[in-house]
Amino acid sequence: MDRFDVQGGNPLKGEVHVNGAKNAALPLMAAALMGNGTTRLAGIPDLRDIRTMSALLRELGVDVNRTPDGTLEITPGDNGRIEAPYELVRQMRASVCLLGPLLARRKRARVSLPGGCVIGVRPIDLHLKGLSALGAEIELEGGYIDASATELIGSEIYLGGPHGSTALGTCNVMMAACLAKGRTIIECAACEPEIVDLAQFLTKMGARIDGAGSHRIVIDGVPELHGTEHQVIPDRIEAGTFMVAAAITGGDVTIRGMRTEHLSAVIDTVRRIGVDLETDGDTCRVRAPDALTASEVIALPYPGVPTDLQAQITALLVRAEGISVVTDKVFPDRFMHVAELSRMGAQIRKAGSSAIIVGQPELTAAPVMASDLRASAALVLAAMAAKGYTIIHRIYHIDRGYGRIEQRLNNLGARIERVQEDYP
Ligand code: EPU
Repeated sequence: MDRFDVQGGNPLKGEVHVNGAKNAALPLMAAALMGNGTTRLAGIPDLRDIRTMSALLRELGVDVNRTPDGTLEITPGDNGRIEAPYELVRQMRASVCLLGPLLARRKRARVSLPGGCVIGVRPIDLHLKGLSALGAEIELEGGYIDASATELIGSEIYLGGPHGSTALGTCNVMMAACLAKGRTIIECAACEPEIVDLAQFLTKMGARIDGAGSHRIVIDGVPELHGTEHQVIPDRIEAGTFMVAAAITGGDVTIRGMRTEHLSAVIDTVRRIGVDLETDGDTCRVRAPDALTASEVIALPYPGVPTDLQAQITALLVRAEGISVVTDKVFPDRFMHVAELSRMGAQIRKAGSSAIIVGQPELTAAPVMASDLRASAALVLAAMAAKGYTIIHRIYHIDRGYGRIEQRLNNLGARIERVQEDYP
């Protein structure tokens, strides 16, 4: 298991290019299973979660190849394999988005229940409600979801839950509805750019979808879908993480290849914290101020500040003098980074679904432990800003969602070394 040794105190400077979006790529790969023929997905980042999804697809008899230019070629075949096993699903909850495509294309799906994770309970009741409404028979048995349907029938489905809609639930129902008979209307659909990207991809495959990106998506089922070509959207969470990296280290970084319109709430928030942002379509220059301004930040479903940037923004506010409050309304328990940031001298405590931060300009290095993908990113950010030498254990979490992150930050002037260690 690898760790990062980070020498803090170096302002980041230069340019960085954003990779393709992990959270868009995973449902696209699952959807490719529904097409007749080969699909080519360009710009898919080379990450651990992508490799896990590739392994799952191969388990289902799908041919997956990465070409030297980074395009994934996916050819489904139709061999009737329908099981996504626990061994792979437990490595990545997003495996659950195979449920809809398998059900629609192969009439049955056996997908291991993903279980809880450190960012919260994470039920999948809304996914199951949506697929049942399309006519699937669903049983939970031996830790597996067993779903079957000789034919899916379009339906009206409300996908709102206690914390808003569900991103992957919307993907699952939208994908299954593409091959259902008749019209499906998803009310309270998730609006994230990843949903829009999936809808555009499915449309290229021959699907008929209207309204993706709004709370009401209308899908008219078609008898079959075909393989196609698609370029995945840039990763808005990676772009936001680089913004915070520049701001927290007192740097000056230009981020290229992003979609600034996917980050309006984040840009607004980071500006409120006092950071100078110059945006121009696919580029954002981030210049840190002499002092950061304390703020109140609330993570909400899109178009709000994403929960996937909550930990990173919390780390930034640790350095803003004054009192800040960060609330997560999507995953109210996603605060594992709070205890680790405290080890670095942050004055921060959790109160319900919020973190209350008494900011101070200096952080000090300490050994810390990464607990999940975005919390790991927050620790790397804090470590780059801290005085001294921070060791971050269990950084395999960060490899799930950020490609070669230490090399890319080092290119900007960070000093991060990946070290192999035997750690329990
Ligand atoms: N929820 C339910 N019932 C459901 C599904 C979700 O109550 O059936 C609740 C969740 O517990 C949560 C809220 O609804 O409180 C939103 O969860 P959502 O279903 O939208 O999350 P997800 O689709 O499983 C995706 C991303 C997450 C990101 C969330 C929220 C992927 C692969 N994952 O998860 O990304 O945090 O949306 O935006 O797209 C990450 O990349 O680090 C990550 C965790």
